[in-house]
Amino acid sequence: MCGIIGYIGNKEAMPILLQGLRRLEYRGYDSAGIAILNDQETRDKIQIQRIRAVGKIDALADKLKNKDKEMKGTIGIAHTRWATHGGVTEENAHPHFACDGKLIIAHNGIIENYRQLKEHLGAKHSFKSETDTEVLAHLIESHYDGDLRRAVEKALMHTRGTYGLVVMHADHPDKIVAARLGSPLVVGIGDGEYYVASDAAPLLAYTKKVAFLNDGEIAEISRSGFETFNLRDESVTKCVEEIEWNEEKAQKQGYDDFMLKEIFDQPVVYEDAIRGRIDLEEGTAHLGGLDMSDAEMRSVNRIILIACGTALHAAMAGKYAFERLSGIPTEVDVASEFRYRDPIIDNKTLVFAISQSGETFDTLAALREAKRKGAFTRGIVNVIGSTIARETDGGTYIHAGPELAVASTKAYTNMVAILLLYAVQFGRLRHMTVATGQRLVRALMEIPEKMQVILKKSEEIKKLAGKYSGYHDFLFLARGINFPVASEGSLKLKEISYIHSEAYPAGEMKHGVNALLSPEFPVLAIMTKNQLYEKMRSNIEEVRARKSKVILLASEGDAEAQSLADDIIYVPQTMELLEPLLNTIPLQLFAYHMAVILGKDVDRPRNLAKSVTVE
Ligand code: M6R
Repeated sequence: MCGIIGYIGNKEAMPILLQGLRRLEYRGYDSAGIAILNDQETRDKIQIQRIRAVGKIDALADKLKNKDKEMKGTIGIAHTRWATHGGVTEENAHPHFACDGKLIIAHNGIIENYRQLKEHLGAKHSFKSETDTEVLAHLIESHYDGDLRRAVEKALMHTRGTYGLVVMHADHPDKIVAARLGSPLVVGIGDGEYYVASDAAPLLAYTKKVAFLNDGEIAEISRSGFETFNLRDESVTKCVEEIEWNEEKAQKQGYDDFMLKEIFDQPVVYEDAIRGRIDLEEGTAHLGGLDMSDAEMRSVNRIILIACGTALHAAMAGKYAFERLSGIPTEVDVASEFRYRDPIIDNKTLVFAISQSGETFDTLAALREAKRKGAFTRGIVNVIGSTIARETDGGTYIHAGPELAVASTKAYTNMVAILLLYAVQFGRLRHMTVATGQRLVRALMEIPEKMQVILKKSEEIKKLAGKYSGYHDFLFLARGINFPVASEGSLKLKEISYIHSEAYPAGEMKHGVNALLSPEFPVLAIMTKNQLYEKMRSNIEEVRARKSKVILLASEGDAEAQSLADDIIYVPQTMELLEPLLNTIPLQLFAYHMAVILGKDVDRPRNLAKSVTVE
């Protein structure tokens, strides 16, 4: 996720763009840049000036000081970056020029086939960065014959992936071209001036009149208006809306809290995580960042997953996948315990450090300990360039985009997705057949649609949360692959609603926890259709016999489950190992709605920080 803003009008563009970037900083903050088309009459040659800086917007603002003359102009584009392709460097910061220094682009999204496109463009083009975006700039340039919008349209026909983009060209001082597929863009309509941005937040200071671009649409924006087309060059009529959001609400894209927005982001960011990493034909995954030869991967005889909190629950789900699909013994370690327990590690052990922030102190310390002992170390991290990402010998970014709510949601899903892809990749190098691999990757590709089905139940889950909001204790019960899901559901409820809850493997109940069961202790049980269904069923019968209320998570179509439940949430079915990708979402929603009903500060729960950088 990155932030884009463009302006065309009669005012100086630079201050508007800089202010806009500050409003968009929540979308990405590793580097930023501004490009202004210097269209002043005093200049004999129209040209585009660009200034970029690594770090937050303040770093860019510092570089822009005393540059008013150089950066003079009434049309410009700007970008704040959340790195995906290429490290956090000034060269990789947007906007990116094509070869001739006339065409410039800022982009949000991932161009999946950028390597092939780069090869195809060949030696005629010289690339200055490692980004997929720069390839797109050159691709547009290669289609340019005087018509900028057509060049963008033609180039986009050759891309796979997602984009929200803005393009300027020195030969068109009266035009910005914007296009959207998968990454939002909104056009702001002023009086003789127009804006385009990733969301409405930076526009609100100037206008409330907006038009949202849909996927597959291109807008040509000038000082006198804007026209919209589809990729077949047909004109599309847009309706102009009046938005009533304040800036904060606009940043949350209309949701009341970042946590809710991030829960709803999941289908899209999940696609970002698997995009370009699945090989359907071979029934496998390719996670380039792993940086291990096939022989090295086959030599691994033990995997250790180290993490904290929600990342630990993703690791627990990953263990099931690694053991079942690759046959490699896999352990999960709480990072804070790992380094104090003299772990047995050698050069055939592969240690994954899993972390959203990439800065969690205990995970980092555990990783250093594993490295010291000679393990292969790899990261599964969200924040590009974070310490864990830098200190591991390789690894994979989960591409969840900035996660701002303290309670982790979309990062969890994407961690599970990456662990599953790794498990498939390792499995295919061992005994897994191509048919099994294909079944798995196909099922992985079907997940976003099924996530949408669950998200549509948000209101239903809200009612349920209301019904149970008077209880002080909850038990989350599950078996097998759903035990990590129960653990995550319980953590979510604790951390944002402050309700006491515990997660238990259902088979353990008889060994003590049954004593707690009573009408005051509701149980949220996961009984989806998998190999432990019957066992789970018996456990729920036992719970009911002790008069606890049962909220059941069951598979769509399981009518029998009704008889076991006081309340039921149906979820779409998927392959057993993939269930955490779906079953966690209703529990996130349950915790979210509960916290809202109880009047808690959902995004900033008491006593907790987003990134725990101390022991
Ligand atoms: O940044 P990390 O993934 O390493 O953070 C680990 C935990 O601190 C984090 O998951 C925490 O448990 C969240 N608040 C859970 O929602």
